[in-house]
Amino acid sequence: MKISIASDHGGYQLKQMVIDHLKARGFEVTDRGCDVPVSCDYPLYAKKVTDDLTAGDAELGILICGTGIGMSMAANKVPGIRAALCHDVFSAKASKEHNNANILCMGARVIGPGLAMMITDTFLDTKFTQDERHVRRISQFS
Ligand code: RB5
Repeated sequence: MKISIASDHGGYQLKQMVIDHLKARGFEVTDRGCDVPVSCDYPLYAKKVTDDLTAGDAELGILICGTGIGMSMAANKVPGIRAALCHDVFSAKASKEHNNANILCMGARVIGPGLAMMITDTFLDTKFTQDERHVRRISQFS
């Protein structure tokens, strides 16, 4: 599975850790920056990942900033993107099962790397239920 990932400066260090974790698990990872932990604008990096998803160049995305809030707001402006801001494992599981989320957002200033890896694993390992009610509700997004 191809995963596109990006962060701003606030999420840079956690992004590098998540990339190492994903590669160790055998995922194909596209790192869309930022490449150095220098102040930058998170919407530009959210767009790189949403572009990968809408172009079919990645199946899932991960976006990390200080809080995860700005990244999720920016990503969810894009039709077809369902970005879920998750800081607990329950939400990560439900975001896939119920909402068929295609981008995981996390805040590096909110949670530590241990929990971030558990959330990431849960997000990647959980499948959409395909239940009719969830399909119907998602179709009502736009
Ligand atoms: C950067 O200081 C910070 O605003 C950003 O990482 C993010 O938290 C925005 O939502």
